[in-house]
Amino acid sequence: MKLIKTDSYEKLSRQAANILSAQVILKPRSVLGLATGSSPIGTYRQLINWYNKGDLDFSQVTTVNLDEYCGLAADNPQSYRYFMNTNFFDHINIDKNRTHVPNGLNPDMEAECHRYDALIESLGGIDLQLLGIGHNGHIGFNEPKGSFEKTTHIVDLKPSTIEANARFFESIDEVPKRAITMGIKSIMNAKKIILIANGQDKKEIVKRAFFGPVTPEVPASILQLHPDLTVICNVD
Ligand code: GLP
Repeated sequence: MKLIKTDSYEKLSRQAANILSAQVILKPRSVLGLATGSSPIGTYRQLINWYNKGDLDFSQVTTVNLDEYCGLAADNPQSYRYFMNTNFFDHINIDKNRTHVPNGLNPDMEAECHRYDALIESLGGIDLQLLGIGHNGHIGFNEPKGSFEKTTHIVDLKPSTIEANARFFESIDEVPKRAITMGIKSIMNAKKIILIANGQDKKEIVKRAFFGPVTPEVPASILQLHPDLTVICNVD
């Protein structure tokens, strides 16, 4: 594991964007695993900046997002598809047909899980996965539990996650209670992983996840076993 500590959100975002842009430059047909949440917004902003300067070309890139809320349509401003379009895809020259987010509206969610796993496999897996981390150690929406869930699955969100994500909704009652998320196996199969942890309030979980035991009670802790993990944080 490589740990990069920065002293500002801007520097953290720049470090992550550096690694992502190197990936796209070295392999224009990269498959990028992308994340939502407030942490990666600065990274996307930095990549858009470099794209606007003519330094990056996303025309051959494919993306797969980690997760989506169940029951939210793509045009719902709280959906992760909408987040990705407005924070990133709408501002770069990526072919939207190559951008993938689980479909939270599929009436058959089991089928949607299988479809998403098959899609990742058909792409040859993920070259570089960007991750944030929840306060309880979740990655994507892999919540703490008794065992690691390997494949794409449906999750009942923990009350603490619903509460943490309520800041993006009008009221806590509007936060969906279920989500679909990529499993630990697809994440761990990525060739390279970057995890960003922004802010002092992530200090405790960074310590537990990367300097404590590997346990499904702290899903991010499994990343300690990944051969090419970079953790970028701005906590002391
Ligand atoms: C959500 C997302 C995660 C993200 C987490 C942390 O629950 N599903 O992928 O890592 O939030 O978000 P933030 O970066 O806003 O703290």
